[in-house]
Amino acid sequence: MLAPSRGTTFQTVRRGHSPYPDGMEVLGFDGQVAVVTGAGGGLGRQHALLLASRGARLVVNDVGGSVRGEGADEDAASRTAREITDLGGTAVADTSSVATPEGGEAVVRTALEAFGTVDIVVNNAGILRDKAFHNLTPDLLRPVLGVHLEGAFWVTRPAWAHMREQGYGRVVFTTSSSGILGNFGQANYGAAKTGLVGLTRVLAIEGERHGIRVNAIAPLARTRMTEELLGASDDRLDPRLVSPVVAWLCHRACTVSGDVLAVGGGRVSRFFTGLTPGYFDPGLTPESVRDNLDRIRAEEGYTTPGSLADELAELFTRF
Ligand code: NAI
Repeated sequence: MLAPSRGTTFQTVRRGHSPYPDGMEVLGFDGQVAVVTGAGGGLGRQHALLLASRGARLVVNDVGGSVRGEGADEDAASRTAREITDLGGTAVADTSSVATPEGGEAVVRTALEAFGTVDIVVNNAGILRDKAFHNLTPDLLRPVLGVHLEGAFWVTRPAWAHMREQGYGRVVFTTSSSGILGNFGQANYGAAKTGLVGLTRVLAIEGERHGIRVNAIAPLARTRMTEELLGASDDRLDPRLVSPVVAWLCHRACTVSGDVLAVGGGRVSRFFTGLTPGYFDPGLTPESVRDNLDRIRAEEGYTTPGSLADELAELFTRF
């Protein structure tokens, strides 16, 4: 069941009432409070609509700027919030920029003042300022790092304090294949997005004992951000096909943490980090590295260490 489009009202999600033909249990959010950043349009709007349709109370955050992060439209966040309330859900709008510590604090304050708690944070706000690396000037770098990477810190930190206290939380970051795999002209964006993978991995570890699960998505969807790249009329990459993964990762029943899920067009996969068995030589020299490059790079028998401790343990077995 995707988020409903304009004109249809939300199904009431109650125990014992399923919209599915076979009566399958619906994953509901029972009045939980979710913050979705950059939810005035694109993917964030769909995430907000889906969570709200299943009973979450929403803070719809957006500054409403251009894809490059210029200008502002006070109405962007309220449009989605109004759409949710018109459909029978609960939402408030917030127009703070995630790119400053004060902005991040303000987003979380909006949730606490309106609803008294925050259970879910979906870090989705983003901008693009693509340029080949040799032409990358500070005005093309800092705002991109500021919205994607620092913004994730500024919004998640104040919510984190609250989640630790209540012993429960769900956090989703939005990374990108442009960073994980690389893409020409996106050094700024790729670095910011891959920074979020590190943040996901560390917070999954720090959040574990406090009941906080932290995961990331690497989406592929046709939005205003990608219409040049993907073609404006390709419906296969409907942004609504990304939100079910976000909803699952935000659900109480989701126990995975530290995952990076690639999602687009209805496919869901997991990116993971593999370590090759490699080459071991206590007397390592530049020449032995050169001469054993094939072994170093050979993927057969790779492992997937889950943490730095796992990697160290693996190394110690070679001594
Ligand atoms: P979009 O441009 O439609 O949405 C981004 C939203 O973030 C906009 O509504 C914008 O106003 C808001 N925003 C920008 N700066 C903000 C700030 N400082 N504070 C609050 N809100 C701010 O683009 P789309 O595609 O929906 O992107 C959503 C996220 O998904 C972004 O983080 C993007 O990098 C990421 N992504 C998208 C992919 C895609 O295929 N569409 C691929 C990989 C990642």
